[in-house]
Amino acid sequence: MTSTSATNSNSRCFAMACVAASFVLLAGCSLKQDMAQQPKNRPLSPSDFFTDGRSARPFVENTVARGSVLDDEMIVSKESNVFPLPLSQELLERGENRYRIFCTPCHGLQGDGNGMVAMRGMKHPPSYHQDRLRQVPNGYIYDVITNGFGAMLGYSAQLAPRDRWAIVAYVRALQLSRNAKISDLPPDVREKVLHPPAEKKPETHGAGAPGGKAE
Ligand code: HEC
Repeated sequence: MTSTSATNSNSRCFAMACVAASFVLLAGCSLKQDMAQQPKNRPLSPSDFFTDGRSARPFVENTVARGSVLDDEMIVSKESNVFPLPLSQELLERGENRYRIFCTPCHGLQGDGNGMVAMRGMKHPPSYHQDRLRQVPNGYIYDVITNGFGAMLGYSAQLAPRDRWAIVAYVRALQLSRNAKISDLPPDVREKVLHPPAEKKPETHGAGAPGGKAE
C-alpha cells in the first residue's frame, strides 16, 4: 500500500512539474516572439512612414547640438583677419598634428601642394607659399577648411572649430617658414641667426687612423 501511494504521489508530482515546465516554456516562447517582432527601424533601413522613404531623420532645422553654442565664438567672417583663440605652442602643435592627418595627403608636408593624392592625379592644390594665399585673411582659410573650395571638400564633419583654427595657425607658420624677415624673429633667435656660433670643424686625423691620438 505505502509503496503504491508513494508511486502515485511521485507520478503526480512529475506530471505537475511537466505542466509547470511547459507553461514556463510557452511563456518564454511568446515573450521571445513579442520582442523579435516589435515594430522598429534598424539603422538606415527604409521606411514608408515618411515621404522621403528614409527611417533616419534629418535634424530639425535650426537644431543646436548640446555644447555647440560655444563654437559660435569661433565663427569669423571670411574677410576678417581675427584669430579667435589665444595662440600657444600647444595650439600650434595640435595644428601640426591635424594638418599632417587631414591636409598633407593633398597639400604635402610643406604646403606646396605636392601631396600623394595630388601626385597621383587629383587636381593640384595651389601652394600656400604663393603671394595670393599669403595675403588672404585668417577667416578665409578657416572658411576653406569649413566649407571646402572648388574641388576640395569641406572638413567641418571631421574637424571641430578649435582644430580648424589650430590648422589655420599651422598653415600661417608654414607660410612664415619660407617668408619671414629677420626683424620678425625674437631678439635672441635673431642674434643666433645673424651671428651663428662658429661651427666646430670635425677633427681631421691621418687617413686610416680613426680615433687618432688620445689627448
Ligand atoms: C583631397 C585633397 C585635399 C585635401 C585633403 C585638402 N585639400 Fe585643400 N585643396 C585641395 C584642392 C584640389 C584645392 C584647389 C581647389 C580648386 O582650385 O578647385 C585646395 C585648395 C585649398 C586652399 C586654397 C584655396 C584658394 O583660395 O585657392 C586652402 C587654403 C586649402 N586647400 C586648405 C586646406 C587645408 C587646411 C586642408 C586640411 C584641413 C586641406 N586643404 C585639405 C585639395 C585638398
